[in-house]
Amino acid sequence: MTGLRSRSIGYGGRLRANVAAVGENAPRITLVPSVGEYPIYDELLYSVMTADEVRVEAFDHAVRSCAAGRTVVDIGTGADANWAVVAAESGATRVWAIEALPESAEKARAVVAARGFADIVTVLTGDSRDIELPEKADVCVSETVGAIASSEGVCEIFADAKRRLVHDSAIFIPHRVETVAVPFDYAAVLGDAGPAFQAEYATYVDRVFQTVGHPFDLRVCWTEIPHEGRLAPPITVEVLQFDSREYEYTMRESRARIDRAGRFGGIALGIRLWASPVDRDPVDSLEQRTSWLPVFVPTSGEQPRTVAPGDEFVLTFGARPSTDHRHPDYRLTARFADRSDPEMDWDGRYLGGTEFRSTAFYRELFAAYPATFRGE
Ligand SMILES: C[S@@+](CC[C@H](N)C(=O)[O-])C[C@H]1O[C@@H](n2cnc3c(N)ncnc32)[C@H](O)[C@@H]1O
Repeated sequence: MTGLRSRSIGYGGRLRANVAAVGENAPRITLVPSVGEYPIYDELLYSVMTADEVRVEAFDHAVRSCAAGRTVVDIGTGADANWAVVAAESGATRVWAIEALPESAEKARAVVAARGFADIVTVLTGDSRDIELPEKADVCVSETVGAIASSEGVCEIFADAKRRLVHDSAIFIPHRVETVAVPFDYAAVLGDAGPAFQAEYATYVDRVFQTVGHPFDLRVCWTEIPHEGRLAPPITVEVLQFDSREYEYTMRESRARIDRAGRFGGIALGIRLWASPVDRDPVDSLEQRTSWLPVFVPTSGEQPRTVAPGDEFVLTFGARPSTDHRHPDYRLTARFADRSDPEMDWDGRYLGGTEFRSTAFYRELFAAYPATFRGE
């Protein structure tokens, strides 16, 4: 580990992963595991999302602008029932708030009652794909958008809602989400520090491993992608448009032209989200501080490769349903346009590939992880 400003920490009594120092020695950017796609929501995660003003303003505005006089289904209402309450406040005639996690649904029921909307909002416990509604809804809102747009299963959730839960002319919120990619020189930002998890979120690493059943190179997010580490402007690699009939996962090839000298450490993935079709400017997770932190896929190489302005990368990004038929698996490759070997070939499976510590980045991050995983 080269992270002079980070230390390894033992949670559960053992040394596991690098955790960043806090206070004046804190590195400029730290890592947080990508958690939104796993059923491990708790009070901290819900409170971070509810306090995310950029996200809340976008969804709040979109719901308020269409809910009056309509019926609404809020899929994945969470413990705070945010959009169900906004819909009721704005004059929706009936709201169904669906939540898969029983404890969160119970909390949502208490929030709805405390806000005086129990006669309008019904909280239903279960996966939306197993829920029947007494009638089809006019509006479908679901904040099951991931740090990679499709990673929390919004495509499958909306596809099922279109078939069974809403009218043909239903309004979908969000309206459109894109995933964008930026080649990133994280060493230029970290200096002599190494990659390390933010202390507050390090314990979620083991929660993801417990959910999946084994340790693997889980998706990680940087707290920020500072401009000084960006090697090219963002390019779009995934487009989800929810007014079209049925979403189909595809493989997309794009090109990124390097516009500054640096070292290619990997690709950062952010989202751009239009909650409603009239939104001119999207929520942009690479430009704004939101709870959708940018995912980072490290290079496969042992050392970040030096790049120069004018170099061109060919990126391929593809998604396909994972074995749970809901959360996508991803493949992301990057190669210089004038070379055939890839600099990166990422097997981003939801339930984890067979490999753990498969690249230099993950070996450094998990240098201290124990050889045997007991699922504690
Ligand atoms: C990112 S949180 C959003 C919570 C809340 N809607 C908000 O925006 O503040 C996603 C929530 O959706 C729930 N969820 C995900 N997929 C679901 C599904 N298919 N059916 C019901 N709930 C689901 C999760 O358990 C989680 O509580």
